[in-house]
Amino acid sequence: MTSSIWGGRFSSGPSELMQDINASIDFDKRMFRQDIAGSKAHAAMLASCGIISDADRQAIDDGLDQILNEITSGTFTFSAALEDIHMNIESRLAEIVGEPARRLHTARSRNDQVATDFRLWVREVIDSLDVALADLQRTLIARAAEHADTLMPGYTHLQTAQPVTFGFHLMAYVEMFGRDRGRLADARKRLNESPLGAAALAGTSFPTNRNQTAELLGFDRPSANAMDAVSDRDFAVEFLAAAALCAVHMSRLAEEIVIWCSDGFKFISLSDAFTTGSSIMPQKRNPDAAELVRAKPGRIIGSLNGLLIVLKGLPLAYGKDMQEDKEGVFDAADALAIAIAATTGMVADMTANPAAMRAALASGFPTATDLADYLVRDLGMPFREAHHVSGAIVALASEKGCDLDGLDLADMQAIEPRITSAVLDVLTCEAAVSMRTSFGGTAPDEVRARIADARIRFALDSNISNGESS
Ligand code: ARG
Repeated sequence: MTSSIWGGRFSSGPSELMQDINASIDFDKRMFRQDIAGSKAHAAMLASCGIISDADRQAIDDGLDQILNEITSGTFTFSAALEDIHMNIESRLAEIVGEPARRLHTARSRNDQVATDFRLWVREVIDSLDVALADLQRTLIARAAEHADTLMPGYTHLQTAQPVTFGFHLMAYVEMFGRDRGRLADARKRLNESPLGAAALAGTSFPTNRNQTAELLGFDRPSANAMDAVSDRDFAVEFLAAAALCAVHMSRLAEEIVIWCSDGFKFISLSDAFTTGSSIMPQKRNPDAAELVRAKPGRIIGSLNGLLIVLKGLPLAYGKDMQEDKEGVFDAADALAIAIAATTGMVADMTANPAAMRAALASGFPTATDLADYLVRDLGMPFREAHHVSGAIVALASEKGCDLDGLDLADMQAIEPRITSAVLDVLTCEAAVSMRTSFGGTAPDEVRARIADARIRFALDSNISNGESS
């Protein structure tokens, strides 16, 4: 059987293999809402430009409503012989309303149609990810506020570096996810041009109004070059790039969650809700959700690479290669959405163990920098020299098997005689944290100030969020 849609010059139908490699309906049916919205806008424009009659437009509109119903209620029959979502819907429309359906494709091609549907789909995903990321930020902020005074070791090289607070550490992620929202919002701005009406690649000789369809579909404007409109998949690449980086951020948090709830650390615990048991070792509580979030960048970065490789060297305008653009984007969007949801769940679920965090500060000399800073501030020593003296005192404490605040004043004075008892005030972790009041520092009051500011900067108190900093 030849295709009733494009089979005019064909005398026989495609081979089964041709149909198998060609059909995209199994995955592009996810764009049915967008396809229907695009067709409705196109029909409205054709009618108001006098290209089809109002009666035809009405029939098309009613038929599309019925199709929407059939698809959402599960009664629509998708057919691989009809290749994709566009032809499945158009064919069904013809069954329902007859002749008017065959006028719908005037001044349009599947090339601008698919580009329009896909943009609308990615735009909706960006909007829902923005809401989800804002929710994750709110959850992190709530936990950070709870733990603005909870001391823990800050690490570099995963070696104890300086004392920080748990709230301060969590707020670092609020910044990352804020930038991720900003990148998605940037991508959305460039995405928001309408390809509809570009037709196959060259525009159309019908007196269309592309501004009207753009406006009906919530686009800012029609794309300015018809050939670019059908060839461009930048929006999908930009979405994947932003998604990949967001997934990378989330995997860093996931890895920290894995570390924090490991036996060596025990800084947090996750409840039954976010852990699994082992089939052989009854004592186990595995952080599987965190591990899966840690792994998600694999497929998302894979999708980004995959699409870049599909597009590389592809001549203008449309090539069927471009049908390979969707699955990776769909998969990445799903992966990111579930990763954000699981991360939000784990952050809300985790129970902090301040005693274990505090105990971890007992080793690793986390206030060695504070000792050096004291030597600079109180004794006027150049920092490089102070670093050296502080290092010698650390070596002494290490030898004696105590922490810096466990040393006697006399021990320190044996290394640097000008040291006075004032040093004892700076060697505790509490002092080290509360003194770090520089903008963005870890002092509890500073963390609280930045929390208040983040709520405003990331528009987290309003219900409307747009991913942009105010
Ligand atoms: N299913 C196709 C895709 O996803 C739709 C566009 C087909 N256009 C064409 N000229 N064959 O890209």
